[in-house]
Amino acid sequence: MTGTIEKHDALRRGLVMGGGLAAGLAMANAASAATATSTLEMQTQDAPRTLDGNSVPEPPPEKSAGPVRPGRGSMLTGKVAVVTGAARGIGRAIAVEFAANGADVVAVDIAGPVSPASNAEPATPDELADTVRQIKQYGRRGEAIRADIRDIAALRRVADQVQTTYGKIDIVVADAAIQRWMPLLDMQDSDWHDVIDNNLNGTANTIRAFAPKMVAQKNGRIIVLSSMQGLHGTKDASSYSASKWGIIGLMKSAALELGQYNITVNALIPGLVDTALTRYYKRLSETMAETGRKPPEKPTPQEAWDVRAPTVALKVGWLQPDDISPAAVFLASDAAAMVTGAEYQVTGGDSAKDV
Ligand SMILES: NC(=O)c1ccc[n+]([C@@H]2O[C@H](COP(=O)([O-])OP(=O)(O)OC[C@H]3O[C@@H](n4cnc5c(N)ncnc54)[C@H](O)[C@@H]3O)[C@@H](O)[C@H]2O)c1
Repeated sequence: MTGTIEKHDALRRGLVMGGGLAAGLAMANAASAATATSTLEMQTQDAPRTLDGNSVPEPPPEKSAGPVRPGRGSMLTGKVAVVTGAARGIGRAIAVEFAANGADVVAVDIAGPVSPASNAEPATPDELADTVRQIKQYGRRGEAIRADIRDIAALRRVADQVQTTYGKIDIVVADAAIQRWMPLLDMQDSDWHDVIDNNLNGTANTIRAFAPKMVAQKNGRIIVLSSMQGLHGTKDASSYSASKWGIIGLMKSAALELGQYNITVNALIPGLVDTALTRYYKRLSETMAETGRKPPEKPTPQEAWDVRAPTVALKVGWLQPDDISPAAVFLASDAAAMVTGAEYQVTGGDSAKDV
């Protein structure tokens, strides 16, 4: 099997590096002289690509997701990742899933209060430490760094520290965010500004602090967290919706600018996920109201589930954080080499009916 894979790699490289088909085949034969032609080889080796005798250019290996290799969409072996908002929820699931798939992970979080304009209980240093404990359970290096994504100087120090300690930064996930439920006309200035500053400016800070390391190494994966609420309006959560909508514009612009350095930038779009961000009464009653029902003021989680689940294609009231993290692994992997400027939805079925 390995000989076959090496042969295909060599074949591609031979073609790409200008050696022509003969050189490519010579390398391939050297790589697996003793390997008999197998069904796998027949499937994975393309015929020479020509048009009227002129060869068709092929992207160089670093600009390609190929060749086919078992597990290449799920393994991050040897990669170094930084995940913000990693103390809990989706950020923690992504950090731990990266480690489970072979990456060393630096878990960044403020692990404390962010703003009065946040409906969620603050995360704690203990939660951040627990994320690192879970990373290490997979035999990977991991560490916690407390930092505020609104402070770009602090993020630049983190980037320098990770570069010095680990030698590179392959993957950055900008996950940290807060949410505010408040009718637009009832908002204090902070209900608007703090959410935009934290979520949109903080995500831009994260890209601006870490991408220079990736530019220098001419390689990288950036994943930002948007939301279904960034694809449509949200009654009584306009600052959150606007911040998540803005993150998509930021992601697409960054993808255009950073592609020349072989850096991909994509957005994960979760549906409703049960985390500290969403587990409070206002969110539960809004969840019920979105289905057209008049909700009780303090619905139980079961009441909210029972109303919402029938409206979702996969018949769940909400998802779990580790439903989202496999998509992050794919976007961070070599298999996603040609995916950039894209929105990747994991919603249990909201995607089937929303924008
Ligand atoms: N839970 C959902 O239903 C849902 C749906 C769509 C998108 N999202 C997005 O997924 C991401 C994670 O959400 P979650 O539900 O896991 O939330 P969460 O509240 O459980 O986790 C967010 C983490 O970000 C950290 N954080 C917030 N502001 C920070 C700052 N200034 N500096 C450093 N750390 C900060 C918090 O301390 C917390 O640990 C967010 O971007 C959110 O908008 C969540």
